[in-house]
Amino acid sequence: MDRSSHAVVLLVFASCGVFSYAQLIDSRQAVPGWTENCITCICEASSGCNETIGCIDGNYCGMFLIGDEYWRDAESPVLDGDDPSDPGAFQRCALDPFCASKAVNRYIQKFAQDCNRDRRINCDDHVRLHYLGQTQCSIRINHLPYYQTFRTCMRALSAESRKGN
Ligand SMILES: *[C@@H]1O[C@H](CO)[C@@H](O)[C@H](O)[C@H]1NC(C)=O
Repeated sequence: MDRSSHAVVLLVFASCGVFSYAQLIDSRQAVPGWTENCITCICEASSGCNETIGCIDGNYCGMFLIGDEYWRDAESPVLDGDDPSDPGAFQRCALDPFCASKAVNRYIQKFAQDCNRDRRINCDDHVRLHYLGQTQCSIRINHLPYYQTFRTCMRALSAESRKGN
């Protein structure tokens, strides 16, 4: 996908507003750089924020393409009434945008660290943490489409906010 069509996808996504990620960010334990733009662009980079992507490459599921271990590290959020110890609970959560966002919020807030070693914590660290996991988030990802999509998305969203939308 080229840059301009990507920006259009972002605009469509932003204006349809399936739900607001911002509600999920717990301000009491706010992590620097953990913003609605940040989680939106992690979603874009992961799957194009595709709610119907299902599971791919083994068992990475849902619009954030989260894995079972990530979900457990995020304290196993579940759909209302679901049981975290049930074998299907991970997939049911990961495939649900709201539950998956809860897992991502919890994971990032729990493990936020200076992944890129620039001595500050911001969204550039969170996007690495999401992709690489808490134990190896310093591995270089700058050349990967995941990371490049993230950068394009962040540029598009900050251009939007400068226009005052
Ligand atoms: C979302 O993913 C599904 C499954 O891979 C695919 O069939 C569909 O075309 C995708 N939707 C968009 C908007 O890319």
